[in-house]
Amino acid sequence: ISHRLTYFPCIYLIIFILCDTLFFKLPEQIQKQELGRDEPRPLYMDFQTGPLLWPYCFRNDPRVLDAMLPYQVNFYGNPHSRTHAYGWESESAMEKARKQVADLIGADPREIVFTSGATESNNMAVKGVVRFYGQKKRHVITTQTEHKCVLDSCRVLESEGFSVTYLPVQSNGLIDLELLDKSIRPDTSLVSIMTINNEIGVKQPIRDIGHLCRSRGVFFHTDGAQAVGKIPLNVTELNIDLMSISAHKIYGPKGVGALFVRRRPRVRLEPLQSGGGQERGLRSGTVPTPLAVGLGAACSIAQAEMVYDHQRVSALAQRLMHKITSQIPDVILNGDPDQRYPGCVNLSFAYVEGESLLMALKDVALSSGSACTSASLEPSYVLRAIGADEDLAHSSIRYFYYYCDYYALKCTVQSVRRWILASLLVPLWEMVQEGIDIKSIKWTQH
Ligand SMILES: *[C@@H]1O[C@H](CO)[C@@H](O)[C@H](O)[C@H]1NC(C)=O
Repeated sequence: ISHRLTYFPCIYLIIFILCDTLFFKLPEQIQKQELGRDEPRPLYMDFQTGPLLWPYCFRNDPRVLDAMLPYQVNFYGNPHSRTHAYGWESESAMEKARKQVADLIGADPREIVFTSGATESNNMAVKGVVRFYGQKKRHVITTQTEHKCVLDSCRVLESEGFSVTYLPVQSNGLIDLELLDKSIRPDTSLVSIMTINNEIGVKQPIRDIGHLCRSRGVFFHTDGAQAVGKIPLNVTELNIDLMSISAHKIYGPKGVGALFVRRRPRVRLEPLQSGGGQERGLRSGTVPTPLAVGLGAACSIAQAEMVYDHQRVSALAQRLMHKITSQIPDVILNGDPDQRYPGCVNLSFAYVEGESLLMALKDVALSSGSACTSASLEPSYVLRAIGADEDLAHSSIRYFYYYCDYYALKCTVQSVRRWILASLLVPLWEMVQEGIDIKSIKWTQH
């Protein structure tokens, strides 16, 4: 029965696949190897993790690819070569991209450092600033719900003898400003708080945090990977000193990102890499011109289309929420209902394990938890930090709606309904029916 229930053909999917093969001529072997010859491809909705630049989904921005291709093929000079025209043309493309990134966030191009992505940017900002000012200042503040790469950077700093305050968040996922204010010490060098949480989509009060940090003489770093290009962010107005940027979250290529480092008042940091001193000594290593160009193009498209996109995503998210909550009982929206980016909807469904829900929804490619941590089935540390019951932490799943349309929405809601029917077979549900208290169940830790 469960098999039949989970197989529910969807006309849109088929149209989608036709477009895909007609317009992009995906190599057939790849499709067959990965998904089996006769199965329709799942609808790709795992966009928070990052859409693929190439195939499946024609929603991925071909304009970015168009901008990049000449630098993969014809203009192959090293952008740091000062002695010949090949170098100069690559350099001018790289500088144009730098300006596009800077324009999106209201920065000066000289404040943009290209990196391999937000993980590197976060490492660079957190470790770099704290180590540089480490003689006099030995303290850093972050939150319990930061991305793993910020938390792990802080752990490394702790092992070097620095002290770290991991601020708790309130049940709506937002930090308490008063608590932040109280936590700042005379020897605090840096506060690192992400703009939009990658798991529950809440938007921290960045403006207030920036204002507080500036008035207390502490540098403020924000991980903007989920936010840059999706909501307006002006580093000048918001008093942000360092901001991490990722390309693939805004339909750019994977493997490139940037770090904004303020010049006035000047933020100094100890570079992570030693070498040729590229990027004003902050990040040695050749800048990959095609990737940088892709990031620049993605930023300028995001800037031009931000208002439209935001409206569309909001409307879709509202519709999704309405459809799901009107048809399914016991659904909880994680995180603050208002202070959030609408394109990240994190729902908890009572009584169901996240992984079994994912399997039931196999024609929608969602992910349970962050892709960076989804190798483990451990309940999200983010959900634990906001105090959700452990059984709810196990049964949450997120829907990402950046770049989905009406038809995708319909498919999702149908899938969820189908899953609800199938969930009658899920053991957990049966246990509840038998009157077992699910809070007493011991979850295995992996
Ligand atoms: C950012 O804010 C500054 C100061 O208010 C302003 O001069 C600048 O034009 C803004 N930039 C963008 C891209 O909004």
